[in-house]
Amino acid sequence: MKKKRIIILASGGGSNAAKILQHFQNHAKAEVVMVGSNRKAAGVQEHAHSHQVPMFFFNREELNEGKVLSVLQKMEADLIVLAGFLLKVPEELVAAFPNAILNIHPALLPKYGGKGMYGMNVHKAVKEAGETESGITIHYVNQHYDEGQILFQAKTSLEESDTPEIIAKKVLALEHLHFAPLIESIL
Ligand code: GAR
Repeated sequence: MKKKRIIILASGGGSNAAKILQHFQNHAKAEVVMVGSNRKAAGVQEHAHSHQVPMFFFNREELNEGKVLSVLQKMEADLIVLAGFLLKVPEELVAAFPNAILNIHPALLPKYGGKGMYGMNVHKAVKEAGETESGITIHYVNQHYDEGQILFQAKTSLEESDTPEIIAKKVLALEHLHFAPLIESIL
């Protein structure tokens, strides 16, 4: 059977991307065929390089003007994985890949989602609200920020003394544990 073709989009350090690249290295059913980023300085570049996976770069305008869509189509992507990707995915791209774009969000949606809710902003908001737990949400991407169908959630309990940085660490550990196996399970 033909291997499923995964493309990762990431904006930052890329620790989730690294886990996914590792998981699908020499995998029987799927492979990461490309990594895309909107930031030239993104750490994800090193991870792609060390797994010999080609990268492509684009800016917000190019994303909105269809450059990313055409790369994804040319590469015959079966699944697009947003691993810390911070730009809004244009509607045209969502429409071209129905139920084929996955995002990981560092909180328990529907709480702490939407525009501006990414990375440390999320953990600070969770801390300020005095939550006793946080977690991760893996969901399909639709045309609204963080509102697509939820596929998986995992929780971690929080101590009163946890700083946003500690919350971020706890949440990231969950992401690293669950994201790649969840991708595998839906392929
Ligand atoms: C992750 O915590 C991910 O959930 C979050 O960015 C971080 C990226 O870390 N994504 C969002 O906030 C999307 N709204 P990484 O670059 O080390 O994988």
